[in-house]
Amino acid sequence: MKGIILAGGTGTRLYPLTKSISKQMLPVYDKPMIYYPLSVLMLAGIREILIISTPRDIAGFLSLLGNGQKLGIKLEYAIQEEPNGLAEAFTIGESFIGDSPVALVLGDNVFYGSDFGNRVKESAELTKGCTIFGCHVADPRAYGVVEVDEDMNIVSIEEKPEHPKSSYAVPGLYFFDNQVVEIAKNVKPSERGEKEITAVIEEYLRKGEVNVNLMGRGLAWLDTGTHEALLEASNFVEAIQKRQGLYVACIEEIAFRRGYISHAQLLELAEPLIKTDYGKYLVDIASEKMLQTKI
Ligand code: TTP
Repeated sequence: MKGIILAGGTGTRLYPLTKSISKQMLPVYDKPMIYYPLSVLMLAGIREILIISTPRDIAGFLSLLGNGQKLGIKLEYAIQEEPNGLAEAFTIGESFIGDSPVALVLGDNVFYGSDFGNRVKESAELTKGCTIFGCHVADPRAYGVVEVDEDMNIVSIEEKPEHPKSSYAVPGLYFFDNQVVEIAKNVKPSERGEKEITAVIEEYLRKGEVNVNLMGRGLAWLDTGTHEALLEASNFVEAIQKRQGLYVACIEEIAFRRGYISHAQLLELAEPLIKTDYGKYLVDIASEKMLQTKI
């Protein structure tokens, strides 16, 4: 399975913060936002990842993350000229995807929860159809909303409905088989002028090939699209990290624990960060005392 992080967009709801830099480069507590979706793909065991962003912002991500070699993964970059919608990720990424299945994660989504690593790892084993998630939220109107019957079969999926049929919003993490490339090519822009991911999922739905994974209370899903949401996400990450002494979305830790990099490589990554708690955490991870911790 390959992975795509869609990290473009205009970020107008975060103006003036995003007038000159990408939303996905803003801090969520102690690390750039893109670390969070990147960590999700790495937890899923995906090591070939395409980062898509705007002509203005792509160089910033390249300078931050490079070719991924230091994390034992392979990163590629592509440009989305205009924010024409999420489904465009698959046409922009066509040659990168090749004949592989692919996961898509949005650059501004934060996930954290018990057993999340294992759940996404299982999802990444998909070979047929698509897997989406459903997260219970107080107000689902701003999201894609999924309705399921008693047997957990999906009944409908609606983009930003005025009158939602359920409280389950679809978060920005999706797993698809290789048909997604052809399906995305045929998606027409919606009324708001975007090639909607919902239209792609509806096509899978017509074929009866959508698998919905409803997440329980143990999973926190945060988006970071407004000033309030961004601050809440930062406060959440700070609270978890201080209390548990375990980091959220520490990509170097994941690379080490998943066996992508050695002990010596982890210490090398910690070196320039050593004045920060983040760097000290990496050193602790490399030492015996935290080796027993599960991710
Ligand atoms: P949105 O939050 O819908 O859009 P945005 O980031 O442009 O922000 P705003 O509404 O404040 O103007 O996008 C969700 C995520 O998807 C975000 O990480 C940006 C990304 N995105 C793209 O990369 N390309 C696109 O065409 C769209 C619509 C979104």
